[in-house]
Amino acid sequence: MNQLDLNSDFHNALTAAAEILKSWINAGEIIRVSSHIDADGVAAAGILSSALARMKANFHLSIFPQLESPYIEELAKEKRKCYIFSDFGSGALEILAKLFPEETIIILDHHEPLYLDEKPSNILEVNSHLFGIDGSNEISGAGVCFLLAYILDPLKNLDLLPLALVGAVGDTQDKAKQHSFKGLNAKIAELGVEHSLIKIEKDLYFQYREMKPIPQALMETTEPFLPELTGNKEACERFLANIGIPLYAGENWRTISDLSIDEKRILTSQLTQLILSHNGTSKQANSLISTNYLLTNETSLKDIREFSQLLNACGRTRNPGIGVAVCMGDRDIQYKHAQNLLIDYNSKINSFLDSLKHPGQMQETDYVQYFYGDEELDETMIGTITTIATKTKIANKVLIGFAKSEDDTYKISARTQDSFVKKGLHLGKAMREIISQLGLDPSKFLAGGHDAAAGTRIPRSYDKLFIETLNKIVEEQLTKKE
Ligand code: C5P
Ligand code: ZN
Repeated sequence: MNQLDLNSDFHNALTAAAEILKSWINAGEIIRVSSHIDADGVAAAGILSSALARMKANFHLSIFPQLESPYIEELAKEKRKCYIFSDFGSGALEILAKLFPEETIIILDHHEPLYLDEKPSNILEVNSHLFGIDGSNEISGAGVCFLLAYILDPLKNLDLLPLALVGAVGDTQDKAKQHSFKGLNAKIAELGVEHSLIKIEKDLYFQYREMKPIPQALMETTEPFLPELTGNKEACERFLANIGIPLYAGENWRTISDLSIDEKRILTSQLTQLILSHNGTSKQANSLISTNYLLTNETSLKDIREFSQLLNACGRTRNPGIGVAVCMGDRDIQYKHAQNLLIDYNSKINSFLDSLKHPGQMQETDYVQYFYGDEELDETMIGTITTIATKTKIANKVLIGFAKSEDDTYKISARTQDSFVKKGLHLGKAMREIISQLGLDPSKFLAGGHDAAAGTRIPRSYDKLFIETLNKIVEEQLTKKE
């Protein structure tokens, strides 16, 4: 653990969690593990499952879209003695304290905590923020779980290190220069390099390097935004033809990883020119270059970004167990399932994004644009759609997506661009404020998130009121700063 330079408080909290875990296992308890449905949460669950299985622990894992009260109530009804929550839990600390007065709980989280004055004594909250480490940018939920696994058994569990980075990239923590990690994530990556688990390379930045045809990979590039190409596959095909990059090798389509050094050089220089000729900055052009973290023990799942896309698709299509199996080493049946889920998931997302471009799909007020998902759209997908619609500039104000849930509510995802954040917008605060202004019970209609990405839930009939209130709050937030 010394290589990671953890401060002693954080190290002590992780050690305390490890001791509690061992005592549960020695007592033969069934450990009830819950984790988040996104790539980071699935990677966290994969790490915990491997570590627990190696210790021959009895455990039962569930993955939830958010840690909301109906799920917490169900878990409480199970009346177990030992609970772990990974990649969430801190935001629900008050509800957990209320519903689990006796049980022992370990929270392994990196989301902004509630900083309660009085901590419930039966809950050990291991959240990086509480130990001075920025969980939004420097460590993921999977990262916190890896640290625990590493303390439990540094030799056996070192091989779980790549999953810590897969989780981090899933939560877009690769935001330092040229898409690299910083802080504790960077130290974990270095430890991986030292032990030959990770290779770090500079290359062109693409989310998909091995899994998708080149035009598709190009079209899905949002950072940097590629003028005329992002979101437009035909334009990408024409562009590649114009610069002389063949799309096929024989009958097989080529991927970014198939490009020769010369082809990469041409592609980089043409994309740079494209960005600069559309008033892009040299910083944006520079972000065409990426820091790639490659897994040395893998064959087709080398790139942590692709690994994370795969886990995300498993979670969001409500097959998180398949993602956990991949994290635990399956490269056979479950891995093939996961690949098919990724194809399905992407085609659903892309066709919904296409439909959003049709006139009338997007409604707007002064500060807000919003749309509704159809009956087919699972609420687990609305977050990705709002993210991509914002990054590909289908939307240019605060964007709200409403997805119909089974229980007569709307799941809401909110996104905005960095330019609004710089002017003082904080969507996480806005969501909490709206729930309070609408007089909704915040323990039922959980709201939260970050400055540029946040979410909540409302009764269906509150949609118009939600937009009106948000419009006012956005105006207030933006004018307050000036
Ligand atoms: O669900 P969605 O992807 O829109 O959420 C955006 C961000 O807001 C995520 O980081 C999520 O964890 C966070 N969030 C939250 N509390 C909620 C809903 C979302 O912290 N009730
Ligand atoms: Zn996370």
